[in-house]
Amino acid sequence: MKLSVIGCGYLGAVHAAAMASIGHEVVGIDVDERKIASLSAGEAPFFEPGLPEILSEGIASGKLRFTTDMAEAKGAKVHFIGVGTPQQKDGYAADLTYVNAAVDALLPYLSPGDIVAGKSTVPVGTAAELAPRIEAAGATLVWNPEFLREGWAVQDTIDPDRLVVGVPSTGSGSGDEAGSGSGDGSESRSSTGSGSVDSNAADVLREVYHPAVAKGTPFIVTDLATAELVKVSANAFLATKISFINAMAEIAEVTGADVTQLADAIGHDARIGRRFLGAGIGFGGGCLPKDIRAFAARAEELGRGESVSFLREVDAINLRRRERAVQLVVTALGEDVVGKKVTVLGAAFKPHSDDIRDSPALDVAVRLKGLGAEVTVTDPEALENAKRQHPQLNYIEERDDALRDADVVVVVTEWDEYRRQLSPEHAGSLVADKVIVDGRNCLDAAAWRAAGWTYYGMGRP
Ligand code: UDX
Repeated sequence: MKLSVIGCGYLGAVHAAAMASIGHEVVGIDVDERKIASLSAGEAPFFEPGLPEILSEGIASGKLRFTTDMAEAKGAKVHFIGVGTPQQKDGYAADLTYVNAAVDALLPYLSPGDIVAGKSTVPVGTAAELAPRIEAAGATLVWNPEFLREGWAVQDTIDPDRLVVGVPSTGSGSGDEAGSGSGDGSESRSSTGSGSVDSNAADVLREVYHPAVAKGTPFIVTDLATAELVKVSANAFLATKISFINAMAEIAEVTGADVTQLADAIGHDARIGRRFLGAGIGFGGGCLPKDIRAFAARAEELGRGESVSFLREVDAINLRRRERAVQLVVTALGEDVVGKKVTVLGAAFKPHSDDIRDSPALDVAVRLKGLGAEVTVTDPEALENAKRQHPQLNYIEERDDALRDADVVVVVTEWDEYRRQLSPEHAGSLVADKVIVDGRNCLDAAAWRAAGWTYYGMGRP
């Protein structure tokens, strides 16, 4: 099928390349000329495992191309909108400038029968507002949220754990006709009967995602509002889970309990599950923080602020953990930070990514610098991005060079380079003082202590 993907950032570039890799003919469109030049040359403008391979394959096969010219969207059957929806500069709500601009730019090139598939994470109600403009061009708007995790984005796009497609109601126009979910959620809703959803559009999306559909991936057809909400509620749930365990870490800190053992123990309950119960310096990145804030802001607008007011608490707990890590470093240095050499292992918001958007790791580094420490940051992938945003920090590429003569080491991104491949004995031979703050609870505390280190964890004795 001929597809266009508008917006070639973390989401769109991966989506375009992944769609070409499953056989579609794809044009990726972005206003950023540098990004398009890099993608056209088969080079990923950011670090994402597996992306360079499918990019160059797609370009070599002729199935994938990139352009800044929106006119090239003409002729595609489905147009995916994958532009960013950042947090507004002066508030918590999402900034929809790029979504609106993408739709405006696309409108002249839509043909009757085309489908516009929104993938960007938007406040609930956005699709309903956009739909009339798209329908006026004879096209149909669907919302098809993505759940990809950076670092696993290629796999999550080609082989997702579920597909969700929100389609317009075909009935009298009442928004709730298609809204109620089917029993186990794994079946698409029937298009027959009163108040049906537009099944044609959903069928086209089924065809787009044919390999995943063929292997039985749950394909859930909803109305537009539900699809928008699925995405933000999934992220709200994940953020809440992380802040829950971080709240337990705060209690553990005043009781001498160990939050990692606690997480293991409660995680054995299948209803709870161990994943996303990693206590530490909390969540960051381009999605969870801004999505929970935008959700809370949207709920306020809808007069339901109280329904998700707990998200403010989730955010507050999350931000407190960064400060806690800073406090631990200050304690480890005997309250005397000025001029001390602090080596920060990690800058990316999580491993397998070079993304530093709202990175708790960099935030900890910046706060320590603000207290007067001499901060050196290292990271296997994110240093270039970090340098650009925080030129005041000292950056060293080689892990061992960064560790040399440190008064304290702080682990803030759990890359394998620090978690598995750094032995406490080897690290001990490099530093000035064997003191480590494990901001991700990712090290074997007993092994580091046995090697003579003073070890501080998050919510661990
Ligand atoms: C997230 C969602 O997982 C994804 O479904 C959505 O589409 C986009 O947002 P991503 O931002 O790539 O994906 O990162 P994720 O793996 O969810 O991690 C988010 C943050 O939470 C990271 O900073 C990570 O370090 C932190 N985290 C994760 C924890 O602090 N503890 C955990 O147990 C898990």
